[in-house]
Amino acid sequence: MKIFVTGGTGYIGSHTVVELQREGFEVVIADNLCNSRAEALEGIRQITGVMPGFERLDLTDAGATRDFFARHGEVDAVIHFAALKAVGESVHKPLEYYSNNLNSLMNVLASMREFGVRHLVFSSSCTVYGQAERLPVTESTPRREAESPYGNTKMMSEDILRDFARVEGEMNVIALRYFNPIGAHPSSLIGELPTGVPNNLIPYLTQTAAGIRPELSVFGDDYDTPDGSAVRDYIDVVDLAKAHVVAIRRLLEGRNRQNFEFFNIGTGRGLSVLEIIRAFERATGVKVNFRVTPRRAGDIEKVWADTTLANHELGWKAVVPIEETLLNAWNWQKHLMQ
Ligand code: NAD
Ligand code: UD1
Repeated sequence: MKIFVTGGTGYIGSHTVVELQREGFEVVIADNLCNSRAEALEGIRQITGVMPGFERLDLTDAGATRDFFARHGEVDAVIHFAALKAVGESVHKPLEYYSNNLNSLMNVLASMREFGVRHLVFSSSCTVYGQAERLPVTESTPRREAESPYGNTKMMSEDILRDFARVEGEMNVIALRYFNPIGAHPSSLIGELPTGVPNNLIPYLTQTAAGIRPELSVFGDDYDTPDGSAVRDYIDVVDLAKAHVVAIRRLLEGRNRQNFEFFNIGTGRGLSVLEIIRAFERATGVKVNFRVTPRRAGDIEKVWADTTLANHELGWKAVVPIEETLLNAWNWQKHLMQ
């Protein structure tokens, strides 16, 4: 079975390619390398013993996307990771975000329809829930108006997929709503590439532990949470990658109940920023210099997933303990500094 993975040299894409190849799938990646490096391919080869197919391609180019499908038209399914994902940047560059994230999706869908590729797994986000009134969030928790253009591209992408699936009866789509993906492959051969000053907690934390940043700011300790710091559902990137493999199998084996489905992909457990710092220190033996600072604008207080649907329907469950995930993130940080 041959899978076309857009954004496959990126953080989550590269880990997913590893899991797909381990399960015997043949993979062709398309990525324009705007937020990743071709070296990820070598990491994938070292882990799996197989070099995935790769084409440098900008999916906002409709002609180039069509050509790609014309050449690889026999692919069985697509996993569409390619997107710009920096929430803060999207506020300043809304057009770039709408244009990149929506046009790439629509080009992929148009080519899938033309070349008869019927199965798609799409990267969505828990950002579609915003601050939910009741926790944990289930798939029937109402979506909320997006806080950022990035978040809005995920809402709009889900809407595009729903409308597309409604009229294209042969098409089968699964959107996975990721909670907070963290960590790296245990081999330290692939992981998340830092670009500039990190916005996300874990890269900032590992860079602080490594002495690259003097101090981690804990954004707020006056939330309505057990220790006052904000709570998230941190999902190990390898667990997350495996969710894609089971979603692909569900589609290929025709086990989906509807032709547009979506699932929460998290651990089902919320951890606070202070709990994460303590777990990191426990796992690595390295102390983290931190200071509590005011809340970050736009942050929500707490969110975690109800993963019952993914557990039962996909037969998938997050299994990697948080300490192991944080140790892998730390080893990847050290690898980057070699
Ligand atoms: P990433 O930036 O590491 O990977 C995305 C890849 O897509 C990159 O390799 C980039 O070069 C490529 N890309 C972007 N635009 C492209 C285009 N027009 N043509 C071809 N390639 C293009 O990001 P990631 O963390 O691996 O995220 C993967 C997907 O998961 C994205 O859709 C993201 O929005 C979604 N997601 C990520 C998170 C997270 O915390 N990382 C959370 C929820 C959802
Ligand atoms: C953010 C995005 C979300 C996106 C996710 C992954 C927002 C509002 N949400 O989620 O849409 O899917 O990134 O890219 O931007 N924190 C600190 N100090 C730091 C950094 C973070 O205390 O230096 C805290 C934050 O306040 C938050 C938690 O750590 O409570 C996680 O933050 P982060 O990793 O940025 O992810 P989210 O904000 O949950």
